Amino acid sequence: MYCEGVALDRIAREQGTPVFVYSRKVLIERFQELKQAFKPAQPLICYSVKANSNLSLCKTLAGEGAGMDIVSGGELFRAGKAGVPGDKIVYASVGKTEEEIDSAVKKGILFFNAESVPELDLINKVCGRLKKRQAVALRVNPDVEAHTHEYITTARKQNKFGLDPKTVRKVFREAGRFEHLDLTCLHMHIGSQIEKVKPFVQALERVTALAEELNATGARITHLNIGGGLGIVYDKEKPQSAKLYAQAVLAILKGKNFKLILEPGRFIAGNAGVLLTRVVYVKNTPVKRFFVVDAAMNDLLRPSLYAAFHAVVPVRKRQGRLKKADVVGPVCESGDFIAKDRPLPGSLGTGELLAVMSTGAYGFSMSSNYNSRRRAAEVLVNGSKYAVIRKREGYADLIRNEVIVTDKEWL
Ligand SMILES: Cc1ncc(COP(=O)(O)O)c(C=O)c1O
Repeated sequence: MYCEGVALDRIAREQGTPVFVYSRKVLIERFQELKQAFKPAQPLICYSVKANSNLSLCKTLAGEGAGMDIVSGGELFRAGKAGVPGDKIVYASVGKTEEEIDSAVKKGILFFNAESVPELDLINKVCGRLKKRQAVALRVNPDVEAHTHEYITTARKQNKFGLDPKTVRKVFREAGRFEHLDLTCLHMHIGSQIEKVKPFVQALERVTALAEELNATGARITHLNIGGGLGIVYDKEKPQSAKLYAQAVLAILKGKNFKLILEPGRFIAGNAGVLLTRVVYVKNTPVKRFFVVDAAMNDLLRPSLYAAFHAVVPVRKRQGRLKKADVVGPVCESGDFIAKDRPLPGSLGTGELLAVMSTGAYGFSMSSNYNSRRRAAEVLVNGSKYAVIRKREGYADLIRNEVIVTDKEWL
């Protein structure tokens, strides 16, 4: 198996495992696919940094003209390091702190996507202190069912995200109270891994109607931010194409004169990456066959957290009958699995290299040091060459900020 022109077993041999491998070509193609699909609207496409926040990936996408969608001070810092200008950054999150707001205002970001009235008050206060005006989007919770995993559904009224339409109307009625803010955008993001265009359409129709209603009563909404959420293929999904999605969105916005912002993450990075892992042991029990591998839930949390499916494929083609097996990591939890009951060649043995597919998004970015495991290396392939874009952590990294307390440290 190859990533572009580079054999995956070469990368594993030279860099060790577990290692995330990304294709620069796929990353750019996916971004361009979306850009082309939306060409008539010339949107600002803000890559959702949380999907995969590696600086080289952010920089590559910024080079294609992408802005960044961020959710923390840390992501603001990353966007800066990747050379993304403030006026291409939008900032969502229900819990922005004063310190985070302060640095984003100083950076001159394009929009805060505000998620509550107390947050609007705080942004207004910070702007007053800094003597700056700031454009703000109100994140609308349109109460639609996105038909995705419960944990990544974000636009039902019981979810913590955004403001209900009634509150949005109230905010605009009282807009004078936010004297340092320009409320010029409505934002929505209804969830992730959404396969059908219908929930997007439902939500956008509601948000667009709300924007028009508000503009008719004196608001000056110039932008609509439609979030991310496009589903990708992990297994047998048949998600809507970028083209179909764009057609549906553009049909709603036709003749309405709103500038458009998008926040895709998974669509761009998801299928651009694999996680390489080696079999450490083959363990047969009376009822199960386990491939114990050197990647674990700390490297790839999605199976444990969402029961997510990732295809697992031997890097070298193997003959032989397929036998069902679980692919599991060494972490001390039964929830630590990469795949369950998968037909894999019976001939696979210790040392075999496996590729866990479609792990470019919400893979490394959700990884941790649980069980004091060093986080994996990341590699970017470009044609027939590759570069290490994140070194594998060493043991010293695990304890970098720790202190063995002595009598002197008590405060
Ligand atoms: C506000 C916001 N925008 C965009 C995204 C990106 O979503 P996706 O990766 O599904 O495109 C997320 C993901 O959770 C988000 O919270």
